[in-house]
Amino acid sequence: MIALASDHGGLLLKEAVKELLRERGISFEDCGTEDGESVDYPDYGEKVARKVAAGAVEKGILFCGTGIGMSIVANKFPHVRAALVTDPFMARMAKEHNNANILVLGGRVIGESEAREMVATWLDARFEGGRHQGRLDKIATIEREIFGTGSGE
Ligand code: RB5
Repeated sequence: MIALASDHGGLLLKEAVKELLRERGISFEDCGTEDGESVDYPDYGEKVARKVAAGAVEKGILFCGTGIGMSIVANKFPHVRAALVTDPFMARMAKEHNNANILVLGGRVIGESEAREMVATWLDARFEGGRHQGRLDKIATIEREIFGTGSGE
């Protein structure tokens, strides 16, 4: 299960990615926004990041105008590793090296076909572990020190 959310700036990309997920038979939950009216990205980023942080969903995808705001919000949450990506190489690295559990895309930065390609690449990639696991462990240690919790990875 993948949770998705956008503000008005990412709405069209969200719809394009939902179509990709339908084509691939991947179940998803759309946490809004539903129309093009101006909304505040933290309200929607929070919905998805909370679900990923709690383990209620395995992955999330967030969209705003640049992707920056959604990245900032999502990475406030423990267990969340949100990656803002702008090309397929970054999308692949986000999984292989960072084991990103939230992908973030900017609706005013990339087009629909690019977004589909990046999401497909991220979904198909596999975390490489090894030295990269050690680095994630260090992030989890920082989380535990600051919040008293950690990613456990
Ligand atoms: C909304 O205008 C815009 O600021 C938002 O979509 C996003 O780009 C923020 O980072």
